[in-house]
Amino acid sequence: MQTQPTVEHKPVIFSGIQPSGMLTLGNYIGALRNFKLLEDDYDCVYCVVDLHTLTVRQEAAQLRRRCLEIAAIYMAVGLDPDKSLIFCQSHVSAHAELSWILSKYTYLGELQRMTQYKDKCAKHADNINAGLLTYPVLMAADILLYQTHLVPIGADQKQHLEITRDIAQRFNALYGDVFTIPDAYIGKVGSRVMSLQEPARKMSKSDPEETYVGILDKPEDIRRKLKRAVTDSDGDIRFDPENKPGVSNLLSILSVLTGDSMDKLVNELSGKGYGELKTRTAECVIEALAPIQAEYARIMADKATLQAILDRNAERASVRANRTLDKVKHKVGLAPHGKA
Ligand code: TRP
Repeated sequence: MQTQPTVEHKPVIFSGIQPSGMLTLGNYIGALRNFKLLEDDYDCVYCVVDLHTLTVRQEAAQLRRRCLEIAAIYMAVGLDPDKSLIFCQSHVSAHAELSWILSKYTYLGELQRMTQYKDKCAKHADNINAGLLTYPVLMAADILLYQTHLVPIGADQKQHLEITRDIAQRFNALYGDVFTIPDAYIGKVGSRVMSLQEPARKMSKSDPEETYVGILDKPEDIRRKLKRAVTDSDGDIRFDPENKPGVSNLLSILSVLTGDSMDKLVNELSGKGYGELKTRTAECVIEALAPIQAEYARIMADKATLQAILDRNAERASVRANRTLDKVKHKVGLAPHGKA
């Protein structure tokens, strides 16, 4: 018998991204930029979690488009869709099915305690739907279906990973080793990009347009947004995130993108005005995003090929996900169906 490629023996990394807005410079610097480096050492699963996005009312045409756009951006940063698995969550029905089953192993109290649930209820008081509450169960299903070892997440998703581990451990305690227990994947620190308008907060695609640079923003928009970035009034260029969050944010963007050390940058820029810092940062961002934008345009120009890649990957994902799902169905006592 021929041996199969060893891809599935590498540790599995599962990353989920909501198609709720355009990806930002923060997503690029904090995550996407490093994905290519992971591809050789890990079995990477990138899932565009469109079912999660339905918890907040969406414009259908826009949501449909965004799923494709996000997948295209993943490819545009250099991920190889034959190596990494890049697909839409709703194309793989095992996610919804496992989520239904796992909800019986999740307590109401646990879900009601989630900070994100409480925040979302406050923010969307006119639409507190059941999906807001069960959101973490679907997330647990995403992660557990692929026997994931590592999940790259920000601080805001830590609680969701904790509940995923709790659900998995509870299930394993009842039925044996069905699920791999996932850990957080902690990337390099110091690469958090902050909002351009409120530099004490993280840059986010769900905040107003002027607070973030979108990965697909045109050069003139990038220049305008950076020119208007909030700084402070002491006029001094130095790295001091606590007292000078705005200036420090620009400096760290510049440092990450150029590879120059903070000392070197501060030396070069000291005595110059904030105008100069902003212009340099803008030009640097434009240059870093240009090749991604060009590649993105190339991919989007051929939607049929993109769609075919996503279809193929959804099939590969289904095969893997169903292995776990079938095991779960058997363990909990759902009747076998005529496959075997
Ligand atoms: N809740 C995550 C977020 O909003 C998105 C997500 C859904 C996710 N499923 C996941 C992240 C699985 C990691 C793993 O950012």
